[in-house]
Amino acid sequence: MANSDTTKGTGRLVHLRVKRQDGPDLPETKRYEEFKVPYLPQMNVISALQQVQKEPRTVDGKDVAPVVWESSCLEEVCGACTMIINGRVRQACSALVDQIAPNGEVITVEPMTKFPLVRDLIVDRERMFHDMKKVKAWIDIDGTHELGPGPRESPEAQQERYPLSRCMTCGCCVEACPQYNDSTQFVGPFALNLVRLFNMHPSGALHKNARLETVMGEGGVQDCGKSQNCVEVCPKEIPLVDSIAQVSRDATKRLLFGWLLK
Ligand code: SF4
Ligand code: SF4
Ligand code: FES
Repeated sequence: MANSDTTKGTGRLVHLRVKRQDGPDLPETKRYEEFKVPYLPQMNVISALQQVQKEPRTVDGKDVAPVVWESSCLEEVCGACTMIINGRVRQACSALVDQIAPNGEVITVEPMTKFPLVRDLIVDRERMFHDMKKVKAWIDIDGTHELGPGPRESPEAQQERYPLSRCMTCGCCVEACPQYNDSTQFVGPFALNLVRLFNMHPSGALHKNARLETVMGEGGVQDCGKSQNCVEVCPKEIPLVDSIAQVSRDATKRLLFGWLLK
């Protein structure tokens, strides 16, 4: 039995403490529940949650509804499984039990706090996708017909842009950012990085001024308080502070000299 102290296999147990809530409008159901599940080699927080799902019984023997969470790639590529694990925002699929609880310590898992809660560990990251729309985080094409070869790019330019392109919209940076909250319209560090990325692309640069004008307004680059929390937590090690500084310089240039180009 998963929650008994007499377990199969190694006998080692993984102790999870999960923050739960039954739905977005049910704050009265907010609670922590604790589970102990059998340890498996190479276990990560997702596989521990899967064990809970198989037999959702708390440490005090109560049968409860299965815990829900989101995940997809299971290799830190999609960002879907982002949650707060022992106080740190990160991906559950790359949070290895051996590293975070080598001696059977309690692992506390909570949903991110900057997005509306859906249920248990699932949040709605829609605001991030709105932020991406605001800053035109894409490259327009004229149609799906044959457009001929795209602009040629040097390997150096590709190499410079590649680290910026690794964003998986996971939400870690905005969870850590003090300026990204319900009372601001700040687009967030990931969106400012995407402004830099798409403005550097030869075709993306066609909308460079539109992107800069968006981030010169409310919720734009001026809202960044330069605390640098974002760069500390980005699992893809994207140089977010450099991107914000570059976008800020470009926006200032646009502000000072943009009238010359009109
Ligand atoms: S910039 Fe980094 S932390 Fe922020 S959403 Fe992208 S991958 Fe996640
Ligand atoms: S540097 Fe700016 S974007 Fe990054 S966490 Fe601080 S306020 Fe947020
Ligand atoms: S499941 Fe895709 S990043 Fe964890």
